[in-house]
Amino acid sequence: MKYLITLSFLIVLSSALFAACSKSKSNTSAIKDQLAETNDSLINKKVLIVYLSRTNNTKAVAQIIHKKVGGDMVALELVNPYPQDYKKIVDQVSNENSTGFLPPLKTKIDKISQYDTIFLGFPTWGMQLPPPMKSFLKQYDLSGKTIIPFNTNAGYGIGNTFQTVKETAPKSTVLEGFSTKGGIERDGVMFVMEGNKEREVAVQVETWLRKLK
Ligand SMILES: Cc1cc2nc3c(=O)[nH]c(=O)nc-3n(C[C@H](O)[C@H](O)[C@H](O)COP(=O)(O)O)c2cc1C
Repeated sequence: MKYLITLSFLIVLSSALFAACSKSKSNTSAIKDQLAETNDSLINKKVLIVYLSRTNNTKAVAQIIHKKVGGDMVALELVNPYPQDYKKIVDQVSNENSTGFLPPLKTKIDKISQYDTIFLGFPTWGMQLPPPMKSFLKQYDLSGKTIIPFNTNAGYGIGNTFQTVKETAPKSTVLEGFSTKGGIERDGVMFVMEGNKEREVAVQVETWLRKLK
């Protein structure tokens, strides 16, 4: 009797183990399938990296991404550049945000239709998407494209920037964005993406890109 009980216990235990193993195997292949799909959207498609950067922190992240995924890279420039003075630009941006003014862009992108995947880089300004990025998203038809946002900020985070990208490009697929601490312009801390900081960000970008795949 004791032998029979032990034997049934062993049978139940091994069936449970077998079921657990098959489940984890099917999970793994599902993840692999997913990876193959997103990989395809990054590697086999034409990539454009568009960024806005005043003190070059977002530009540095754009360059790191460019090194890893290639494609074309374009900086957004304005017909009427913003003032250099921090307080003046804060006031102007705040005014543009409250009136919905879209500053005209000097940058023109030829045949945007040729791109499938668009990395979109910008700093947080007033906890919002900078007005020139709003101009870009309104000006170009990005429907059917994959948008991948990335951001630098003074440590207060992305605000509603990624959400605004999604809302302004409702016919695009917006993937998980990347964000890191950049300068603190208010305190006179401008460009920080060098040395250890740049290396750390390069590793974070690599991890993020791999997760996107
Ligand atoms: C007009 C203006 C508004 C800003 N507002 C914010 C903010 O709301 N939150 C934040 O964390 N950083 C804010 N910053 C700081 C920038 O996001 C940060 O310095 C960023 O790294 C700058 O990127 P860039 O070097 O590519 O221009 C602001 C900077 C400017 C010029």
